[in-house]
Order: sequence, then structure tokens, then C-alpha cells
Amino acid sequence: MTKLVFATNNAHKLEEVKAMLGAEFDLLSLADIGCTADIPETGDTFEHNAKQKSDYILTHFQMDCFADDSGLEIDALDGEPGVYSAHYSGTRDMEQNIALVLENLGDNLYRTARFRTVISLSINGQQHFFEGSVEGNIISDERGGAGFGYDPIFIPKGYEETFAQMSAEQKNKISHRAVAVKKLVAFLRSQQ
Ligand code: IMP
Repeated sequence: MTKLVFATNNAHKLEEVKAMLGAEFDLLSLADIGCTADIPETGDTFEHNAKQKSDYILTHFQMDCFADDSGLEIDALDGEPGVYSAHYSGTRDMEQNIALVLENLGDNLYRTARFRTVISLSINGQQHFFEGSVEGNIISDERGGAGFGYDPIFIPKGYEETFAQMSAEQKNKISHRAVAVKKLVAFLRSQQ
């Protein structure tokens, strides 16, 4: 079985990818390989940050691996919060991050945005990127209690509900992460 590290500590993400990959791959988390380091993410693009994480594993553990980086890009805010999505307000408190996004947007009617995920895969000495995105709009109030992050203020294009009003199953069919992971899985399968 091919061993592959997913450079994440997020058990939910790990299970999601495991389910999609199937039994041909032995997917290992950072905890599984004994990596307790706070891997630096200092880039100003999702690509840079994802590659920084996969490069770290390659350098320190010499194992094939992949890492992801995601965030919300709002057009009227020149792509912010972008790579700063997790701590836009200077804290990791999502209520404060959402409040700052809504404050910065004010009553601007131009509210298009997208969630993006970039996956950096390092395998057999080669580097590959996979990307997923989902277009939508930022609303001016919070709706729904499911999901996480900016889900309560994001309505994907073609839908009436925010990500936080959708079931996990429904969100996972169309999300940026699902699109990127599907591309990764198709690539890994094609290499078997
Ligand atoms: P990560 O790189 O996947 O950990 O995402 C970084 C940050 O982007 C998260 O802390 C969230 O604030 C935001 N984000 C990423 N994906 C989503 C999503 O599916 N819904 C809402 N917020 C997200």
C-alpha cells in the first residue's frame, strides 16, 4: 500500500480524504508520523503556503505528502481576507473575523467572492498543484449554524442558502475543498 502523508491536524479533513481515496493508499496525518512542529505558513498565496507545508514534510520526514491551504477571496476587498482568512481580525475568533469582513464591505452592493483551496502534492520527487474554487456572494447578515469559518455569510452561486444552512453532505458536493480533493484523488489513482 502506498504511504502518503496529509500534512494536517484536522481529523475531519483527514477522514474526508481517506473516504475518497479508498484502500489503495495508507493516508497518514502529522500525528501519525510524529510531527508536532508548528509548520510555518508565511506566504502571500495559497500555493506558497500549501507548498511550504508539503516541502516541510519532504525535508524533515522524506515522505511523499500533500498539504492544503484555503480561504475566502472577496472581490470588493481586493481578494481579502485571502491567506489571512483564519485570523483576519488579528484573532482566530470567527465572530470577529466575520464582523470585520462585514464592516469592510459596508453597504457595498458589489459582493462577489469565492472560496479557494490549493493542494500541493510532492510525490516521487515531483511537485503538483490541484485547485478548487466555488463562486458566490457575501450577504450582510449571518444565516445558519452548520459548517465553520465564513460559511454563515457565503451563498454559493445558483443557491439560496448559505453554506452554514446546508447539510455537510450538500456542502461537500460543491465545496472548493471537494473540487480540489477530487482532482488530487483522480491524479493519484491514475498513477497506480
Ligand atoms: P484552511 O487553510 O483550510 O485551514 O482554511 C483557512 C481559513 O479559511 C479557515 O480558518 C476559515 O476561516 C476559512 N475557510 C476555509 N475553508 C472554509 C469553508 O469551507 N468555509 C468557511 N470558511 C473556510
